[in-house]
Amino acid sequence: MKLSISVVGTGRMGSALARALLRSGYRTTVWNRTKQKAEPLATLGATVAGSVLEAVNAAEIVIVNVSDYQATAAVLHDDAVASAIRGKLVVELTSGTPHGAREAAEWFAEHGASYLDGAIMATPDFIGTDAGTILISGPRQAFDANEEMFRALGGNVQHIGEEPGRANALDSALLALMWGALFGTLHAIAVSQAEEIDLGELARQWTATAPVVDGLVADLIKRTDAGRFASDDETLSSISPHYGAFQHLLELMEARKIDRSVADGYDAIFQRAIAAGHLHDDFAALSQFLGSPDKRSLRSGVRGGSLLTG
Ligand SMILES: NC(=O)c1ccc[n+]([C@@H]2O[C@H](COP(=O)([O-])OP(=O)(O)OC[C@H]3O[C@@H](n4cnc5c(N)ncnc54)[C@H](OP(=O)(O)O)[C@@H]3O)[C@@H](O)[C@H]2O)c1
Repeated sequence: MKLSISVVGTGRMGSALARALLRSGYRTTVWNRTKQKAEPLATLGATVAGSVLEAVNAAEIVIVNVSDYQATAAVLHDDAVASAIRGKLVVELTSGTPHGAREAAEWFAEHGASYLDGAIMATPDFIGTDAGTILISGPRQAFDANEEMFRALGGNVQHIGEEPGRANALDSALLALMWGALFGTLHAIAVSQAEEIDLGELARQWTATAPVVDGLVADLIKRTDAGRFASDDETLSSISPHYGAFQHLLELMEARKIDRSVADGYDAIFQRAIAAGHLHDDFAALSQFLGSPDKRSLRSGVRGGSLLTG
């Protein structure tokens, strides 16, 4: 017989998670602060719990998907709920910081529960499909023992490490890449509109340029990993031509009164590197000018994102 699973939080994503579990035949209980949002899941076979405590009591595995870790704390920081959670597996799929996940892992350990923290790298329509990606960190054994359930949530659910903050850390790294692309797109749209370039034309030309950019991104990561900052025979482009072309963009943005706040941030990084003598180094040399990463201790990381203490 398949395990009983409760999904706490049935917003857009939580509902998709519950639907995927129901499709795979799991006995699924759902709870949502606003009950009406959970009720459509009853027609698919879910039991709608009247309280979080009822949801926790109904299942061996509790999947949490609310807006942030503060909301998780608001839901689970209750003596009766905390004591009911003992012996269960909690899978936190709410987005958060690495530090928040580490704090939460401690809180659940203190309350006798196993804890996996996940980062969903997909929109709700991908959940339950082969392309659904979720990164999971925490005890490997808890992941392996429930791999079938994770496969129901997505074909590409991966355990990426025992350290509980790892999934959220990788999530933020990948989202940094995504927002670079999305804010870059906003700039491209603004420039195109200011210069009366049809956005369809922008889209067509981007399709042709995207593989070049993909190559640059992969090369940047590889060279930074290897510490190959000086220009060499394999350098695709040094900082110098990038900076020259970037000045054209700044000039155009200034002339067309396009918001420069993000672009000025890029400019500041270019300028720090150039002032330090790296104009003719590989573009990867810029990776040394984003501040000094604090690698002292995983437990002294960025604060915030969780109230799951005490
Ligand atoms: N949607 C996506 O594409 C996507 C992708 C990756 C990750 N995620 C992550 O998944 C999580 C949920 O996203 P979503 O898109 O499902 O958002 P959503 O539709 O806005 O749902 C938010 C959920 O959080 C609940 N909630 C908020 N504050 C609460 C509180 N104080 N106590 C109890 N419940 C509370 C809401 O309950 P009510 O219904 O009562 O308001 C609702 O169930 C977020 O952490 C998000 O970053 C989403």
